[in-house]
Amino acid sequence: MRRMAATVSVITSGSGGLFNGMTATAVCSVSADPPSLLIVVNRANRSHALIERSGAYTVNVLSAEQERLATHFASTPVEPFADVPYSLGSNHCPIIEHCTSYFACLVEQQTGFGTHSIFIGRVVASGSSDSLPLLHQDGKFRS
Ligand SMILES: Cc1cc2nc3c(=O)[nH]c(=O)nc-3n(C[C@H](O)[C@H](O)[C@H](O)COP(=O)(O)O)c2cc1C
Repeated sequence: MRRMAATVSVITSGSGGLFNGMTATAVCSVSADPPSLLIVVNRANRSHALIERSGAYTVNVLSAEQERLATHFASTPVEPFADVPYSLGSNHCPIIEHCTSYFACLVEQQTGFGTHSIFIGRVVASGSSDSLPLLHQDGKFRS
């Protein structure tokens, strides 16, 4: 699995005034009609409960300049957004500034497999810039 090159995203979520983000590579487009994306989230992650409760998440695809955010959101920070500029999307999840693209989703289906849940989300809003993406392969961030 380490051999598979992947883009790096931060999946943001929010519920009851609490916001979180987690670094993720297990993100995949499902279909264009309806526009949909799946994410795979460890049930032990804080994000899992928030996504399950709110039925929403946003995939923020990081740019090559945002490696710091990838490390930050993989470290369960106490105040996840203390030093991270963002705005709130229509699904009430944070949209992180200066990402390559974002996809605001509402959960349509959830299925469990082993330690993880697969959430299939319908894209309700999106945006993109022409910055280059951050990649991850063989345990290292690359561009
Ligand atoms: C490059 C990278 C990719 C990751 N991909 C995933 C992923 O796809 N799904 C997942 O559940 N955790 C993934 N993780 C681990 C989470 O980012 C990490 O457990 C995080 O602290 C969870 O945050 P939370 O508990 O605040 O939700 C990844 C970590 C790194 C560094």
